[in-house]
Amino acid sequence: MEQSSLKTIGVVGSGQMGRGIAQVAAQGGLSVLLHDQDAAALQAAAAFIESSLKRQVEKGALPEAARAAAIARIRPIAESGPLADADFVIEAVSESLAVKARVFAALDGACRPEVILASNTSSLPITKIASATRRPDRVVGMHFMNPVPVMELVEIVAGQATSAATLETTRGLAKSLGKTPVVAQDYPGFISNRILMPMINEAIYALYEGAGRRDDIDTVMRLGMRHPMGPLALADFIGLDTCLAILEILHDGFGDPKYRPCPLLRRMVDAGHLGKKSGRGFYDYGSRDSSR
Ligand code: CAA
Repeated sequence: MEQSSLKTIGVVGSGQMGRGIAQVAAQGGLSVLLHDQDAAALQAAAAFIESSLKRQVEKGALPEAARAAAIARIRPIAESGPLADADFVIEAVSESLAVKARVFAALDGACRPEVILASNTSSLPITKIASATRRPDRVVGMHFMNPVPVMELVEIVAGQATSAATLETTRGLAKSLGKTPVVAQDYPGFISNRILMPMINEAIYALYEGAGRRDDIDTVMRLGMRHPMGPLALADFIGLDTCLAILEILHDGFGDPKYRPCPLLRRMVDAGHLGKKSGRGFYDYGSRDSSR
C-alpha cells in the first residue's frame, strides 16, 4: 500500500514503546488500533497517553481540541480481530525472537495480504522475524527511539527480503509522523545500537576499572560532548537488562571480543538493578516503578 492511503495503524503491544507510537500516530491524524492481550496494560497505556497529551496542553504546546481528537482516534483492543482493518501494523511486544515470531505468524493470518508488518525491535534480526510470515517482502524494521514523542529518529531496517516499495511506504509513514527516517541494513545492532551500546559498555568499563567516578564519567559526555544524558544515566533509562541483551546480540552476531559485555553490567542485571524501571541502577530512583 502507498503511504498516502494509510488511514488506520495497528500497534501491537502497549508497553513504553507501543504507547508512544500509538500517541504519535494519533497526533499525526491516523486512526490507531492499540492491541494488547493484557487488559490492565491497555488501560495503563491509555491513561499514560491521556496524561502525556494533557501535559502538552498545559504547556500550551497542543490545543485542547487536538488533544481530544487524538484521544478519540485511539481504540484500545484486547482482541486481535479488529486488526483486519489495519492498513499498516507496528509490533512493539517484548524483545524475544520466539514471542515476535509467534506474533508475526498471527498477524500474517489476521491482516490483509498487502499490509506491511513492521517491528519496533531494537536488535533482533528482521530477516528472521519475516521468515515467520508468508510476506517477507512486506516485513520491515521500524525502530523508534525512547521517548517516542520526543525523539526525531526512526531507524528503518531492511531485511534480506524487504522490498523497495515496503521501504518507501515505511519511510513515508515515518515522515508523516514528523520523524526523520534513516535506512539501516539488517546486521546486529543495525546502526543505532551498534554505535550506542559499545559507548555505554565502555562507560561501564571505565567505572569498573576505576578510570573515573560515575558522575564524572557522565559529566564528561554531557558537558564535553553535549549528550543530553551521560552514558550511565542513559543505560539506566534504557534498562540495564536491555543493554546487556543488545550487547550479547552484537557479541554473538559479530563474534568480535570488542563487544564483550562488562562484568559489572552483568552483575548489576543479576542483582535486579535494572535502572529506572526497577528503581535502582547506576543511580538510585527510590522504590518508585517509573516509566519516565
Ligand atoms: N513522553 C513525552 N514527552 C517527554 C517524555 C516522555 N516520556 N520525557 C520527556 N518528555 C518531554 C518533556 O515533556 C519536555 O518537553 P518540552 O521541552 O516541550 O517541555 C522535553 O521532553 C524535555 O523533557 P524534560 O525537561 O523533562 O527533561 P530533559 O530536558 O532532561 O529531557 C530527555 C529528557 C528527552 C529524555 C533527554 O534527556 C534526552 O533526550 N535523553 C536522551 C534520550 C535518548 O538517548 N534516547 C534514545 C535511547 S536509545 C533507544 O531508545 C533505542 C534503543 O534501541 C535502546
